[in-house]
Amino acid sequence: VTALDTAVVRAYHLSAFTVDHASGVATVAAEVGWPSLANPATVAAVFTAPGATAAVALCDTTVVGFVQALSDGHLQAHLSFLAVLPSHRRHGIARQLTEMVFTATGAQRIDLITDEADNFYQSLPHKRMSGYRIYPLDS
Ligand SMILES: CC(C)(COP(=O)(O)OP(=O)(O)OC[C@H]1O[C@@H](n2cnc3c(N)ncnc32)[C@H](O)[C@@H]1OP(=O)(O)O)[C@@H](O)C(=O)NCCC(=O)NCCS
Repeated sequence: VTALDTAVVRAYHLSAFTVDHASGVATVAAEVGWPSLANPATVAAVFTAPGATAAVALCDTTVVGFVQALSDGHLQAHLSFLAVLPSHRRHGIARQLTEMVFTATGAQRIDLITDEADNFYQSLPHKRMSGYRIYPLDS
């Protein structure tokens, strides 16, 4: 495999999410260990919900990364899901998906929680705060 072949294999492009991407997103979600998003019907509902902005990174027609955020369209967004297949990491895909969320939502800032992607978020302009995920009171 030449360097050029490798570059071609790794070429990707970003696209706004459509329901045609739902099963590809579910496959990536399963691979990164997110079972709650590993069902295409759930992905279609979550990624097209009111206020949601979602995009995918494609290698040819294969989904290799995705992002979903919720926003008021003016000030604030919450980044709910961002993942890239392990085989396609460190090529700037997550960075570009994040940039796309800012552009598509018009938000001035994005809040999120993370348990294992500190290195990625620390590479972006940021402010550290403390985050919580809360659950229904009877759970
Ligand atoms: C976090 C994640 C989305 C990053 O995707 P990615 O496409 O590899 O990220 P990028 O290539 O855009 O990285 C941009 C910069 O972030 C930093 N970075 C990203 N991953 C890093 C790592 N594992 N270690 C150190 N720095 C890292 C680097 O500064 C990198 O720039 P560089 O490659 O030029 O050094 C990906 O690792 C992932 O899917 N992880 C599992 C799911 C997850 O935790 N998602 C976040 C949930 S909130």
